[in-house]
Order: sequence, then C-alpha cells, then structure tokens
Amino acid sequence: MRYGYFDTEKREYVITRPDVPVSWTNYLGVEDFCTVISQNAGGYSFYRSPQYHRVTRFRPNGVPLDRPGHYVYIRDDETGEFWSVSWQPTGGNAESYQVRHGLSYSVFSCNRNGINAEQLCMVPLGDACELWAVTLSNVSDSPRRLSVFGYCEFSFHQIEMDNQNFQMSLYASGADCQDGIIQHDLYYEETGFQCFTSSFAPDGYDCSRDAFLGSYRTETNPLAVETGHCSGSGGTTGNHCGALMKTVTLEPGGDVNLFFMLSEGSRAEAVRLREKYRSPGAVQKAGEALAAWWDKRLASLRVSLPHAEMENMLNVWTLYQAEVNVLFSRFASFIEVGGRTGLGYRDTAQDAMCIANAEPDGCRKRLIQLLHGQVSSGYGLHLFRPEWFMREEKAQSFKSPTVVPTPDRSEMIHGIKDVCSDDHLWLVAAVCEYVREIGDTKFFDAIVPYADGGEGSIYEHLTRALDFTEEHTGAHGIPLGLRADWNDCLNLGGGESGMVTFLYLWALKHFIAAARFLGRTNDVEKYQARLDKAATAADEALWDGEWFRRGFTASGRPIGGAEAAEGKVHLESNTWAVVSGAVSREKGIKCMDAVDAYLYTPYGLMLNAPSFTVPDDEVGFVTRVYPGVKENGAVFSHPNPWAWAAECMLGRGARAIRLYDALCPALQNDIIETRKAEPYSYCQFIMGKDHKLHGQANHPWMTGTAGWAYYAATRYILGIRPEFDRLTVDPCIPPEWKTFSAVRVWRGTEYRITVENPDGAEYGVAGLYVNGQKAEFIPLSQEPVEVRIVMGRDIH
Ligand code: GLC
Repeated sequence: MRYGYFDTEKREYVITRPDVPVSWTNYLGVEDFCTVISQNAGGYSFYRSPQYHRVTRFRPNGVPLDRPGHYVYIRDDETGEFWSVSWQPTGGNAESYQVRHGLSYSVFSCNRNGINAEQLCMVPLGDACELWAVTLSNVSDSPRRLSVFGYCEFSFHQIEMDNQNFQMSLYASGADCQDGIIQHDLYYEETGFQCFTSSFAPDGYDCSRDAFLGSYRTETNPLAVETGHCSGSGGTTGNHCGALMKTVTLEPGGDVNLFFMLSEGSRAEAVRLREKYRSPGAVQKAGEALAAWWDKRLASLRVSLPHAEMENMLNVWTLYQAEVNVLFSRFASFIEVGGRTGLGYRDTAQDAMCIANAEPDGCRKRLIQLLHGQVSSGYGLHLFRPEWFMREEKAQSFKSPTVVPTPDRSEMIHGIKDVCSDDHLWLVAAVCEYVREIGDTKFFDAIVPYADGGEGSIYEHLTRALDFTEEHTGAHGIPLGLRADWNDCLNLGGGESGMVTFLYLWALKHFIAAARFLGRTNDVEKYQARLDKAATAADEALWDGEWFRRGFTASGRPIGGAEAAEGKVHLESNTWAVVSGAVSREKGIKCMDAVDAYLYTPYGLMLNAPSFTVPDDEVGFVTRVYPGVKENGAVFSHPNPWAWAAECMLGRGARAIRLYDALCPALQNDIIETRKAEPYSYCQFIMGKDHKLHGQANHPWMTGTAGWAYYAATRYILGIRPEFDRLTVDPCIPPEWKTFSAVRVWRGTEYRITVENPDGAEYGVAGLYVNGQKAEFIPLSQEPVEVRIVMGRDIH
C-alpha cells in the first residue's frame, strides 16, 4: 500500500493520503530556528536548543502522535463548517488533502467545500522565524465569506519546566496582542520572548490557549473556530497560544494570499520581520535562497545511475537526512523530543565524516567540537555539550526558584567506567577524511585544548586516541569492550570487542596514510608495527572457522561463533573485519557469506542472529532486549552500509546492490502497511525476523544510517574517493550496470566522471582516461576535469 510518491524534479515527496500509519516528518530550518513538522502540520519548534529553548509545545508520545502543531483553520461563515488546511487536526476526507515535504519546507494543501487552500511552512535563512504562506482560492461558483485562523501553542522554554513542576511555570509567563503581534513572554527569563503575527491587521485574536480551544475541547474543534469568534484573551499566567483571525470574502475564481509568522525575539524584532516578509515577493525570495542553499550542497556530488531510486536517494534524500543529523545531532524528532541535547561522540564523528563533501564547514565545526571533548588520555566524552568546553556559559543574573544543580567542569569529564571503546577511533578517520576532502593539511597542526586541561595539535589528539586503544587491550591482545562499543547494548567491561579491534585497524590505516603524506616517517613505522601486531592478534583471537566472533566476555567466553546457541553471527565484527582491510580475501568472503546466510532479510541485514533470549549480563543489555527489536536481532540500519562497503571491498557489486536495495526506503514506498514509516528516510531499526512485526521501520531521520548510506554508496559502490593528493574512482557495481556518471566537486573543481562497463564487470578499472588521455591516476586540478573509466572483468 502506498500513500505518496517522489517528485524527483521538485525534490519533494508528495503525500497523497495524509492518513499514514505514523507521523511522517520533515525538518524546517538550517540555522538556529528549527521545526520538526509532520504531514499534519503537527510538531514543535525550538531556537538553538530543543531542551532549553522550546518555542512551540509538543505532547510527546501522545495520541495522535503529533499534537499540537502549526495550524491554519478555515471557517465558512455562511454554513459554520470549518476545516484545517492540513488534514489534521480537524480530520475529514483524507483524499482531499496533499502534503509536499521538500528540502527544509513543507506545503499542506486541500480542496474542500469549493475552496482550494495551501499553507507553505519554512524557516528563511538568516532570520529566526517560521513563515506560513497561505493561499485560498474560491473554486466554487458563488461568493464565499470565510474566516481564517492561524494557531500555535507556545511552550515554556525548558523541557522540564514544560512537562513537570507546573506550580511555578504556569504562573511565570504571559502573552498579549498589540499592533497585530502576539508576544509571548517567559517572565523569568531575560530574553524569553516569542511572537506570532500576520501580514494583515487581525479581526480577532486569542493569546490564552484555553480560551481559544474552550473547555473539554482539543485542536480538532476549537471553540473560537466553531463559533467564528476569538475572544481577545491574554494576560499573565496560564498557557498561551498565538491565534490570529481574519475574515475574507472571495468572489468565484477569486483568491487571497496571507501569511502568519512565528518568530523568536521580542515584538520589536517581529515588527522588523513582518515588514521584511510582507513586502511583495519576499517569501518567494526567501524560498529561492533556501533552495540555493540546498543546491550548493547537492551539487557537491550529482549522480546519474541506471537505478532510479538510488539516484534519487543519493542526489536528494539521503544527503538531506545526513545533513539534518549534522545540524541537529540526534536530539530533535518525535522520538527524541528534546530531553537530551549535546553531542554523542561516535554519532557526531560519523555524521560529520560522511558528508565532508557537501558540508565541509559543518564537518569542521563538529570535528573541532569533538576535539574539545577529548580528554588528554585519548578517549572522547561519550555525550557532552560543546559549550562546556568552548565558551564560558553566560551566567544568569538571577537564581531561578527551581534548583537544578549545575555540575562543576570536573564532573562533566567521566572516567573510564563510562568510556565507550569506539568513540575516539571514529574521530581519527573523520579528521583524515575531512583533510582529504579540503586538502588543508595545516588542519593537523591546529592546537586544540583537551577537555581535562592541556592542549595539543590535532595530529597529537589523534595519536592519543590511537594510544588509548593500544593501552586498553585484554587477555587476547585485542581492545577491551569497556562500557560499550558502537553497540550501546553490548556492555563488555573488561571483555574484548571484535568490532573495535577491526575499527582500530581501520583508524590506524587512516592515520598511517596521513602520517605518510605529512612525511612523518617515524610515526608511519611506529603505527604500522602496531597495525601488523593488532591484525595478527585479531585473526588469531577472532576467527572462528567460518566467520569472525563478536568478542569475548570478561571471563573469556567467546561471543558469537559456531558453538554459540544465540547471537552466533554478528554484523559489526564481520563487516569491519573486511572494511578494515586487515583480513584475507578468503576469510572475507567466508564471513560475508555467513552474514548473508544468517542475517539477510528482505528489509536489510539483522544485527545478530539468532536473537538473544536469555539474559547474560556479561554480554550486556542486548540480552535483555526483546528478540527482533533494536540491538537484539533487528535490522539495525546503521551497520547495513558497512556490509555494502565490505562487499565492494570483496569486489561483489551485485551483492552490494542487493543489500543496498533491501534497506532502501524508497523501494518500500508501496509496502507502507508493513514499513509504516516514511519512505524517504532511513530508520534506526526495522523489526527483525524474531518479531511478529518483522519489516516495520522505527525511528526515522535521526540515525547514523543516513551518513553511512551516503558514504558507503558513493565511496564504495560508486567508488568515488578523494585521497590526500588525488581522486580515486574505483566502482564496484552489478554486472548489468552498463554505465553511470557523476559530477563530483572536489576542492573547488568539477570532476565529470563517466564509467563504462562494456563487459559486465563487477569491479576493476581496465582503463582510466583523464581529459581524453590515458592516465595512471586522477590528479588535482584547478580546471574542470573529464574522467572516463572503463571497467574490465577481473582486474583489480
Ligand atoms: C543508537 C546510538 C548510536 C549507537 C547505536 C547502536 O543509534 O545513537 O550511538 O551506536 O544506537 O547501539
């Protein structure tokens, strides 16, 4: 069953039936003001922090999932009938509604009672406000008298204040309307203002939520809309809203454009913004600027493939999702509702690394933040707020009555018991990939403080990360698992992690390549010796005959392996064994065959199988998770692209695409009855075979899958990889792909790449031509470069 389709030309997903099984969301805003919005215009806004500066309210985990929202109501003043421009909150015949989710904007439209209505929501660049551009057209044959209402519910800023302890918060805010601007004021904050205004002088308003909705009513049937009259409510204390109303008369064929605006800051700022955006063409110009912002990012790599869904995902949706993760980390969605903010170390490093081409500045910003969150002994703080280390927080000039203890700096630095064994290793590769992208090797020399004092060059930060892992190995000579590795639920403590073993080898390879390029030969030798030693230890300790084990518990029991009754085969250790490049091709093929045999499902690869059913705290929390769910035997999406990369390293392009396709959201557009979640976003996990909802996708948007899907598909399947001094193109594709092309912008130059595959090879470059000349490699260039690759069977 399908609910919509991709409009590739417009870079939109068009929802033709908004009664989708769960909320299908989009993200508005690419700077300080953000709104997470559903296909029903439900959701919430925040300014900079969803935890500390909420603008509009959200009732998390509610029924329905997405209330309240940013709603526009229309009332027919002749008949008293009313409806909303988005399908909810009033409901009605879903088929008369349409939603277009685009890059940082959403458009809701409906055709009801002879009126066509549209509401475009977006956050313009440079201003902290959300614009709702509304158009109503009378497509009936009689004149119509309509009342239009814009409505949103304000939030107390702090999520705790907004969700608990109302004995203070309910009495500490106010809202009033002057000059057509509703200003919401959090009285206990020095800069606690938001405004709601419109392009017109309103015929009525409400600032009190309860007055607008009326007792025992909801957003579905607000009293003010039902009666056609706002009551001019407002004042101090209580819960507040922005509700502005205008009455219009439309002749047959007539239309009207209005806008509502929700903005951060005081009334004076709202006056400025209202002037700016109500001038003719201003909203359209803002839309064009936003589109250009996205054009620039999307232009960093444009692909043209014999695989329409993959082309669309890579050119638009996967990059978009990955960007949103870099912008807002994991902490604003309908699942993560803003109660946790800050940066997860490993997530941020991977997100940033994966889109260095499209977002070099964002990548750099995140890397610098991570470097500040690294302690001098080398590990990263698992979850931290960059402002702890990067600037003194401005002290509030007064004490608020709710005592929330502020930790001292030393308390923010957790000790070894909370160290995750993988966090700092991602940083090593991420920094190297960033430098490969931008070419500025001086980045390695920049001095950055450590979180716990002292400072060092970025190069030194990386050595300390590697040294930390070297110094924390266990009985088999491979890295300890510590609090967890990439798998939050594998809590090995003093046990050893097979995955981190291979991740360490991968990080070492990145670092050695950088050291070699920088001419630091002593370090090349030193770390190469460690790599050789670690690779031997890995092979000896982890190979089980057919595949690689996941690790060892603190008491030395192997995790995964032929003998294991549960959790026999794990995705992480086997994919990383291959991606690390440290194991033989023969073992690589065997272990990926085992992955295929044990973990493949039509919805992607499961993380482990069979699922654990018996709690075993030496293995970790994973054994206490329901079988087939999350880290215990679900299709955990994030590691799936590792398998695509691994298959490409083995030269098995057909297999890589088979795995790509299994996880591909766009290819599940027509099975929404199973998938449920939006088909334009990867989800954190999909229920595994051991769960009766097998195939149901959960937790859209905020997952490292997006970055890795982009990275693995572009760098391994398409094989387009920047090195320190050259560009490599080494595809691994299915034999039936006869050709594909791509335009990659690298260090400011366009590389126009055409790949031909006359013999149906899966990998191997038989001929490389640069600007028509046969070449050994693709060099750096200031001028646009034409690259032609001819693939050949069995050549590597
Ligand atoms: C979640 C976390 C991520 C972790 C993964 C597996 O996606 O955000 O850090 O690696 O789960 O446990």
